Amino acid sequence: MLMQESSTRKIYDVHSVFYDVTFGRLVRRRIANAIGHMDIKATDRVLDIGIGTGASLGYYPRRGQVIGVDLSAGMLREARKKIEQRGLAHAAVFQADAMHLPFAADTFDHVFISHVISVVSDPVKLLKEAQRVCKSGARIVMVNHFQSTNRFVALFEKWLCPLCTKLGWRSDLRLNDLVRQAGVQVDYRYKLEQIDLWETVVITNKKDGMVVGQAA
Ligand SMILES: C[S@@+](CC[C@H](N)C(=O)[O-])C[C@H]1O[C@@H](n2cnc3c(N)ncnc32)[C@H](O)[C@@H]1O
Repeated sequence: MLMQESSTRKIYDVHSVFYDVTFGRLVRRRIANAIGHMDIKATDRVLDIGIGTGASLGYYPRRGQVIGVDLSAGMLREARKKIEQRGLAHAAVFQADAMHLPFAADTFDHVFISHVISVVSDPVKLLKEAQRVCKSGARIVMVNHFQSTNRFVALFEKWLCPLCTKLGWRSDLRLNDLVRQAGVQVDYRYKLEQIDLWETVVITNKKDGMVVGQAA
């Protein structure tokens, strides 16, 4: 495991104690809305990468199968509590690195990546892994903060980045660079509010011409 991942794991083990009553509260509405863009059918398999404390778990339809992975044992403990307390038999979580997913190609019908892409050391690799493990035509839905296209706001975000890194994420990830380097096309993207730090990005996985299994 890379240095960054091992420190991220420790940071989120600590976050896990108060995540649900802090950041978790802020993200729920956005997560619920984004999950609605996956059109999950009765027999579908969904992968939730970096599921954390399972803030998303209550918003998946109780059909099909939801698999969540995360690096942090502390975050996963909170997710497991929710699965048990709410009787979510269609969901299971386990520890895995998002950049080396332990799944065969074409395993999933949808992939959800919520507030994670700017946390990992190699966002392109994560997105390529997501492409590999889901079927062609599957939806990949990402929720995240991306660097503003406004020059002044972007400068501020770059300046803020060292502080954010200490908290476990980066503020200077550019969506255009990410999608170009990962070789994906964005179907559409939207913000819940007119002024919103986060956005939802919807991608259809296209495998034509993509070399499966070769992450950057
Ligand atoms: C900001 S939290 C988001 C949690 C959840 N997806 C949400 O939206 O509430 C980021 C999560 O990504 C996880 N994470 C960071 N790097 C990871 C990696 N390489 N593989 C798997 N999970 C990772 C962290 O442990 C943490 O739980």
